[in-house]
Amino acid sequence: MIGVFDSGLGGLSVLAAIANALPQADLLYFADTAHVPYGDKDDAFIRRRVLAIGQHLADQGCVLVVVACNTATAAAVAAFRELIPGLPVVGVEPGVKPAAAASRSGRIAVLATASTARSQRLANLIRQHAATVQVDVEACPGWATRVETLHLDDPGFAEEARQHLAPLLAAGADQIVLGCTHYAFLRPVLEPIVANRAALVDVAEAVARQCVRLAGAAAVGDGRLALLATAQPERLQAALPALGLDWLARRVSGAARLALA
Ligand code: DGL
Repeated sequence: MIGVFDSGLGGLSVLAAIANALPQADLLYFADTAHVPYGDKDDAFIRRRVLAIGQHLADQGCVLVVVACNTATAAAVAAFRELIPGLPVVGVEPGVKPAAAASRSGRIAVLATASTARSQRLANLIRQHAATVQVDVEACPGWATRVETLHLDDPGFAEEARQHLAPLLAAGADQIVLGCTHYAFLRPVLEPIVANRAALVDVAEAVARQCVRLAGAAAVGDGRLALLATAQPERLQAALPALGLDWLARRVSGAARLALA
């Protein structure tokens, strides 16, 4: 079984890519909905949550765990790997490397939560993989919560998104990295704003390819999807069709609440 977790619904964008690439794998998706969003929490809090959830997924029999959250990866993937040394763990980091490689203008931008935006891990990623381009990092507070509420097509949000993106586009960014897994679900709002000027970059497919490489025996199962949430598991289940993932909703074997301290 492969465990995939996030603060809430965002990781479903990564889960969908994994389920697509490994249709027979049994999947366990854990959403820490009692504590979403992570993006405005401090590192110590996020680390405690990641270690508790990661340990739980390993105890449930997950032989591969995907931290489907840029914020949790930045704050705690190293600590999680230390906690369970033999367990393959895949983190999700903003696609700075592919964006830098694809940029023709020499300028890219990263949209992320406040926590990821100020993280040392993102600074290191940029230093390592984007030294030859200019990188603007833009924190987008409230965007993950917007996805959680499923109010995706509110005209007020399109205006807010335009205000974040306009200066980045005006500065010449031609690659806009979606550095939070929730933002994949905002594509219908973001795409018309960036239109022909920039590409939106997200790493869900690359993460799925990494899972295919590491899955081993976990690739073979009944293709079931179990859902766990620290609050409102029924909302998590209902979000699948609401986010256009009906095909994934049909694989759900159950949804339960687990208050993980
Ligand atoms: N989906 C998460 C990420 O990729 C976290 C969003 C949040 O909880 O603030 O960063």
